[in-house]
Amino acid sequence: MTPVNDAALDTLFREAHTCSAWQDKPIDNALLHELYELVRLGPTSLNCCPARFVFVRSAEAKERLKGCLSEGNVAKTMAAPVTVIVAQDLEFYEALPRLFPQIDARPWFAGKPAFAETTALRNSSLQGAYLIVVARALGLDTGPMSGFDGAKVDAAFFAGSTWKSNFLVNLGYGEPGKTHPRNPRLSFDEAARIA
Ligand SMILES: Cc1cc2nc3c(=O)[nH]c(=O)nc-3n(C[C@H](O)[C@H](O)[C@H](O)COP(=O)(O)O)c2cc1C
Repeated sequence: MTPVNDAALDTLFREAHTCSAWQDKPIDNALLHELYELVRLGPTSLNCCPARFVFVRSAEAKERLKGCLSEGNVAKTMAAPVTVIVAQDLEFYEALPRLFPQIDARPWFAGKPAFAETTALRNSSLQGAYLIVVARALGLDTGPMSGFDGAKVDAAFFAGSTWKSNFLVNLGYGEPGKTHPRNPRLSFDEAARIA
């Protein structure tokens, strides 16, 4: 594979910041589809693809989400053109015969809710991270959030279904110059080891 160039690394990582202040500029549905078409290519165990995505954009759905948010996340979420609920389908294994036909892996998870949930959480979190990086690659800014009441989101959006919320991501075009300065990151020696 050809490594991406320096400008791409700037867009994806060095210049990209978590965003809280949004321009009044919409995201059209075609871009959300383009985003998903790339996100879905990211790897998951057994290709199980447990993440489910709700693109919350209507005033009615935004209002429903509002009541589920921590206070500090309300204003920026209401101002963002789209908020993604990154969820996981706890019965993701029903699609395994289609997604990974080489092995009959459905029985590994069916009737084993703890293992199914661990697998769903691990892989939907990865897929949510892919969403952040793909969004940046498509010129969007993102604001991921765990400050919300998961039980309330599940009741408001997923009642009667097997979907369960994982985390939220605001999407839009950030106000230039309004991001926080970068906080320090751990050095290689603090966070990594070559064994
Ligand atoms: C899973 C996740 C949950 C987060 N939850 C919140 C949140 O509830 N509210 C908030 O203001 N920021 C939240 N953040 C933003 C982080 O604080 C931010 O991404 C981090 O400090 C890095 O900032 P930077 O991208 O500007 O370097 C969250 C980030 C992630 C990845």
